[in-house]
Amino acid sequence: MLKVGFVGWRGMVGSVLMQRMLEDGDFKGIEPTFFTTSQVGQPSPDIGVDVPALKDAFDIDALKALDVVITCQGGDYTGEVYQKLRQAGWQGYWIDAASTLRMADEATIVLDPVNRKVIDAQLAKGAKTFVGGNCTVSLMLMGLGGLFEADMVEWMTSMTYQAASGSGAKHMRELLVQMGGLRDAVAGELDDPASAILDIDRKVTQAMRGGEFPVDNFGAPLAGSLLPWIDTKMDSGQSREEWKAGVESNKILGLQANPVPIDGLCVRIGAMRSHSQAFTVKLKRDVPLDEIEDRLAKHNEWVKVIPNDKEATIAGLTPTAATGTLQVPVGRLRKLAMGGEYLSAFTVGDQLLWGAAEPLKRMLQILRE
Ligand code: HSE
Repeated sequence: MLKVGFVGWRGMVGSVLMQRMLEDGDFKGIEPTFFTTSQVGQPSPDIGVDVPALKDAFDIDALKALDVVITCQGGDYTGEVYQKLRQAGWQGYWIDAASTLRMADEATIVLDPVNRKVIDAQLAKGAKTFVGGNCTVSLMLMGLGGLFEADMVEWMTSMTYQAASGSGAKHMRELLVQMGGLRDAVAGELDDPASAILDIDRKVTQAMRGGEFPVDNFGAPLAGSLLPWIDTKMDSGQSREEWKAGVESNKILGLQANPVPIDGLCVRIGAMRSHSQAFTVKLKRDVPLDEIEDRLAKHNEWVKVIPNDKEATIAGLTPTAATGTLQVPVGRLRKLAMGGEYLSAFTVGDQLLWGAAEPLKRMLQILRE
């Protein structure tokens, strides 16, 4: 039985991973151990089978006893522990949600509905380090996998509309407090149908710009606004989130020797946990739209092609529709005015499921095959 250690299982991504593993009965047939950075000796979570008390996540000897470590603890933990564990001679499988190791040569980015062949080839070569991709990248490839599989993409731009959850749990809370603050600033006026909308707007803007508005986490108002910058700045002028789209996508697809240019602009918006993206795809040739829809729909069992009409779009192609589900709707599919080789597309997906926990869960299952 595989001895599997879980680190960071209590955080937001870790909790979603636990929930998904419980739903699918994944704890049966493995020997799980839960680790902690702060509560050694406390009881482990109830997963329906006997598990030892919490162990110290920094105890290299305890980690060395495992066949697999799955961590959702974050990049600082990976930076602190991974090399020490390898240097101590550990040969086990490291499955990680953090970005720290993603672009390292020894790491394979896992998204098996898209790159199972790459994963299998790496396993055959003895690879032991597997990392989940950036959430927008994974969700883009789940939605548009059919185009890449058919080698149809010459280049692509991705313009994102990213949810608060991508920044973390505290940010989700702050977004809601900001929303409440805006409402409270004009509660009286909203109750009075005769109040002037421009007065309401002025007060809301004042509240957003005022010193009292809660911005500790985002650094600026997000509710009623948006933030066109995610993560740090690269020398290229891209944000790190924008840089990841190109490098990670090509690594996942095994195209690093001959990469497809993918670049765009990443924007934080006031959605809770589903990321959306608008794409302009330059196709290698003018492929009929029905063939494109067919290839997209058949690529994997989670993608769902949404007809390009208003009713279907606002019902099925929104964060509200996608959140909490494994479905990745893709729609607004049409040829752009620039010509038959220019395709427009829009996808949405739960940032914590396919964007984070699900590829890790499935990697553990692949190791058990
Ligand atoms: N970096 C992403 C975001 C989430 O900020 O939305 C993690 O992949």
